[in-house]
Amino acid sequence: AKVIFITQANEREEVEGDSGSLMELAVQNGIYGIDGDCGGVCSCATCHVYMEADDYAKLGAPEEVESDMLELDDNVTEYSRLCCQIPVSDEIDGMTFTVAPK
Ligand code: FES
Repeated sequence: AKVIFITQANEREEVEGDSGSLMELAVQNGIYGIDGDCGGVCSCATCHVYMEADDYAKLGAPEEVESDMLELDDNVTEYSRLCCQIPVSDEIDGMTFTVAPK
């Protein structure tokens, strides 16, 4: 899948991958603002991204452990996700993810 990240520096980066999580893909590609400090176990929120409303609906609501973690983040919106919980697959092809501010 090919996805677009809007980094914390407001740069548009297109990256491509076919396995792992979206957080891993972002870290491998040096996407500014995605740190993945907890290694993808949903306990740090340093992989917080905003999605487009339509795309968000397509993926379905996050698991409870993810929404609980998001609630602790001051910058949470209704289209927030932790991208370590999003698998890289054809489902997310063409989607845009905006890195949330810290
Ligand atoms: Fe820590 Fe996603 S990498 S919550």
